[in-house]
Amino acid sequence: MSKIHAAVTAVHGYVPDYVLTNHELETMVDTNDEWITSRTGIKERRILKGEGLGTSDMAVPAVNALLAKRGISAEEIDLIIFCTTTPDFVFPATANILADKIGAKNAWGYDLQAACSGFLFGLATGSQFIESGKHKKVLVVGADKMSSIMNFEDRATCIIFGDGGGAVLLEPNDEGNGVIDSILRSDGSGAAYLHQKAGGSVKPASHETVDAREHFAYQEGQAVFKFAVTNMAEVAAEIMDRNNLVADDVAWLVPHQANKRIIDATANRTGISADKVIINIERYGNTTNGTIPLCLWEWEDKFKKGDSLVLAAFGGGFTWGSIYLKWAY
Ligand code: UT7
Repeated sequence: MSKIHAAVTAVHGYVPDYVLTNHELETMVDTNDEWITSRTGIKERRILKGEGLGTSDMAVPAVNALLAKRGISAEEIDLIIFCTTTPDFVFPATANILADKIGAKNAWGYDLQAACSGFLFGLATGSQFIESGKHKKVLVVGADKMSSIMNFEDRATCIIFGDGGGAVLLEPNDEGNGVIDSILRSDGSGAAYLHQKAGGSVKPASHETVDAREHFAYQEGQAVFKFAVTNMAEVAAEIMDRNNLVADDVAWLVPHQANKRIIDATANRTGISADKVIINIERYGNTTNGTIPLCLWEWEDKFKKGDSLVLAAFGGGFTWGSIYLKWAY
């Protein structure tokens, strides 16, 4: 019997309407379009505006469109893994809230937190339920409302992040397509360089934490950059070596979109030519868990059945990893 892989059988994304351009940021912090473009590759990002709207509100339209595309109802979903760093609430899980909003009455679900690598961790985890035969339809969502934890007075951090996300459906495949291999890593000693200081159990919210602006993402950009640029490139190269892939065998490199310079370094290290590197950072910035599903969504029409995709990410924690995925349709 041929091995069952977890194949992506549908993908869809969502970005909010509001476009925050570099020029508008110039009116908010001491920055300029030239600096942001040359240091990051970002020209604009989306912001979810509106009282009472959270990360699940971006997942709902993405998932509803995905289900319509695949021609299935929400009730057929077995499991929802919601990868996010900006859950609707500390608890309950955003996966539960999403399930309720879309009518996924038969699904169980949980949130997965691995910062910018979350979607890859979710894809690898969700695949296990398909490969084991436990489930037939697993929804992996990656979405973030990064604007909810952005200090728009911190020019080194607020310029790179944006809101958005997407979802993929995983189903069994016996044709050799789907998630073929994954390498996932974490190193908690990197936590100091990228984290949110307050709002967790160590430092619950108080007047003092609010006054000190500790409920925002804190990033030491240069330190993170140094780790990201090496580790994302190395892990992508490692998964290619392990699966005997040379650059010509790879149809698409799908990198996390944190900084164009980190993406370029990954492409250089793997030897994958620029025309096969998916980049939309100039329009969306870093949507954390949203970047890779948004890339898959926007490039879906270009993928062919059997294409070899190498996905790679690096994020806070530190977390990083790479997935070798053969496209199934
Ligand atoms: O996805 C999750 C993981 N996160 C990442 O992968 C992000 C990795 N880090 C980065 O992408 C970059 O470090 C940043 C884009 C965040 C910052 O770029 P950088 O080239 O590392 O800048 P820097 O922090 O070293 O700052 C260089 C200079 C400083 O000025 P001085 O001290 O040289 O006078 C900053 O104050 O640029 C200044 N600067 C800015 N200038 C204009 C920092 N931010 C800005 C800004 N506009 N927005």
